[in-house]
Order: sequence, then structure tokens, then C-alpha cells
Amino acid sequence: MRALTEAGRKIISFASGEIGLPALPVLADELALSTRESAYGPVGGNPDMLQAAAGYWTRRGLATGPNQLIAGPGTKPLIYAAISAMQGEVVVPQPSWVSYAVQAELAGKRVHRVPTRSTQGGIPDPALLADRIRSARSAGADPRIVVVTIPDNPTGDVASSDTLQDLASVARELDLVIISDEIYTDLVFEGTAPHPASFAPERTITTTGLTKSLALGGWRLGVLRTPATEFGARVHGAIKAVASQVWSSVAAPIQQAAVLAFNEPAEVRSWVSAARRLHQGVTGTLAAALSNIGADLPHPVATCYLYPSFDRLADKLAQHKQIHTSDELAKALLQHGIYCLPGNAFGDPPDRLTLRFSVSHLYGETAQEQEESLKSHDPTTLPWVQEPIRRLEAALKTLMSTD
Ligand SMILES: Cc1ncc(COP(=O)(O)O)c(C=O)c1O
Repeated sequence: MRALTEAGRKIISFASGEIGLPALPVLADELALSTRESAYGPVGGNPDMLQAAAGYWTRRGLATGPNQLIAGPGTKPLIYAAISAMQGEVVVPQPSWVSYAVQAELAGKRVHRVPTRSTQGGIPDPALLADRIRSARSAGADPRIVVVTIPDNPTGDVASSDTLQDLASVARELDLVIISDEIYTDLVFEGTAPHPASFAPERTITTTGLTKSLALGGWRLGVLRTPATEFGARVHGAIKAVASQVWSSVAAPIQQAAVLAFNEPAEVRSWVSAARRLHQGVTGTLAAALSNIGADLPHPVATCYLYPSFDRLADKLAQHKQIHTSDELAKALLQHGIYCLPGNAFGDPPDRLTLRFSVSHLYGETAQEQEESLKSHDPTTLPWVQEPIRRLEAALKTLMSTD
């Protein structure tokens, strides 16, 4: 990638999941009001922020008290703290977001990958999960934590209530703790995503934050919710102990802005709806372009990601282009100026020809273009959105050609 950029090639990136949109002005103003606050603040989070985050969850059907919550500098460190504070090895979905497996390994834990059901990305197939746990345990391993993502990165799927019900039954039967990463929960295009904590409230830890729905990744704020049980209180204490020794507290001005974000006044709600519409419009157009080329993928329902499979074209790609793996496919696309991530980066078997495309960097380079993208009724007519999609289509057509 760097060599091509240095050689003067214009590379279009569909790789990063960072949301390329500017901060909502009311949140920026709120943050600015508190920049003179210089004290650390309580380890788990400021009481008014925790109260606001409790309201956020309660409005989404998970009744929550502030004493169940812990704030951290993003959900990433919170998930790591949860994995490291609990006993047992870690199960992750296959495919899944890159960091879970690495975090488990950093915490000195073995990782078990369990494939997901079709269109149910983010949740290990519950039947396979049960089999895998039983056979791992009988071979002396100790899987006890299962990390799930709903809505999912990389697939963009939203698993169904039936799948979550099955997951909850397996978790109960085999005494597993679920860590549910719900950072994309407000980016479901129609309706809402179900929560694993509704099905297994006694054993589910849930995380969310400001990074995706409000495009505030660099502000670094996430919140983790523990069950309202004795087990939940124990885990809460253990994770807070990690917080105390690792990050102490989240920056006070960011927490002040988060109070407003989690209280969701009209400006916040309408900004999130506009961002959601934008992701929906652009993922929909890109999905149609990919399926015209012969890729298999479901109609996008959430997030800013598409995870097409090119398996149907495997013979053609092998015969005419000597492409046999997702890595080779991604590298070939890079030669045509398109940067995306291969499925094997998310733990998929190397010979599954899956790629992950993120549209979140197509929304313009300047704040003005990004504002225009947010306001547009048809963002795919904007030149900065249209051109990368056209370039991707052309690159794929060349790659799929037999000459
Ligand atoms: C599934 C998932 N979880 C968590 C994160 C990171 O979130 P945070 O910025 O809250 O650490 C990302 C970012 O890409 C993600 O895709």
C-alpha cells in the first residue's frame, strides 16, 4: 500500500472502519465548556455520565442502573479489561473483528474460533458452539467467555432473536459468560437490533460507545454494562480494578459531552438518523455494484460494512488470475488502486474468497463535503461518493475479465 502511494498511485481506501464525519457542533461546544476541568474524576466514570448512559440503555429495553456501568477510553480497552479480569479461554465468531482474538492472546488466553450461521454474523453458530465447547473441555481446554458482535463487523449482519435465544440456552447450559459488543447498535437501518442481555441477562456483559453512531472515535469514550446480579457486581469490581490501574478515568470534558450524547436530545437523534441514512444509501449502492459483478452478499441492514464472498468466481479467479486466497484477491485489487481487507484478517479460512469493504471514508475529505454528504437525499450522486464506487466497479470488472 505504502509503496504504491509513494509511487504516485491514487489508492482508494475501503479499509478503515473509522467514520469520516465531523463532530456534531452541540457536542463539540459542550466539550469546550469543560476544558478547564483538570481533575481525574471517579475511576468508573462521572455520576452524571453514568446516569445518562443508564438512561440510554434503559430506553433500548435494557433496564440499567448507573452502578452497573463502567466508563473507559473507548470500548476496546473495556473489552480487554473484561477478558483479562475473568477466568477462562475465549471463543470468538469466525469471522470477527480483528481485536478480540489479539486481545485474548495478549491476556494469555487461548482463542477458539467458531463459524457463524449465514446472515447471522457476529454470533458463533450456537449448535457448533456447544459442540466445540464440549470437545475443547474434554480435551482439557477451558473456554468460558464468548465474545459476540451485534450488529456485526465485518459482515454488517444483525443476528436474529432466534439465534440469540439459542446462544443464551447454550451459554446457560455450558456456563459461559457473553461479552456483547454493541458499538453499532444505533446503526441498524430499519428497526432495532436485539440484545443478548435480553436473553441471558444474568451472564451478559454489554459494551457501547460514541465511536460509530456519533463518529467520535478519537474522543475515546466507551461504557460497559454488567449484569444486575451478584456475579455482575463481582465482575464490575474486577473490571474497575483493571480500570484503576490502567487508565484511571476518562477525560472529564469528554465525559461532559457524553452526558449530552447519552441523553439524546433532538439534535443528537437527528444527526444519528442522518448518518444512518447515509450509511444505508452508500452501502446499498455498493452492494448492488458488487452483486452485479457476481459477488454474493445479503442486502445491507446495518453498519458501514459489506462482506461479499467471491467464492462463486473461485474457478475463474484461480484459472485466469492465479488468485486462490482472500489475501491474494485483496492484493490484486490493490494493484488496481482499491484498498480493502481480506477475510482472513477477520479469521476466515484463507481460501474463502471474502473481502471487507467499509464505506465510511467515502463521505468527503473536507468538513464541508462531509456535511453535504450527511444532508444529501441521494449521497451516491455526490462526486466524492460516486467516483470511488465507479473506480471499484472498474477494478473488479478488470480483475474478473478472462483476458
Ligand atoms: C466491533 C468493534 N468494536 C469496537 C470498536 C472500537 O471501538 P472504540 O472506539 O469504542 O474502542 C470497533 C472499531 O472499529 C469495532 O469495529
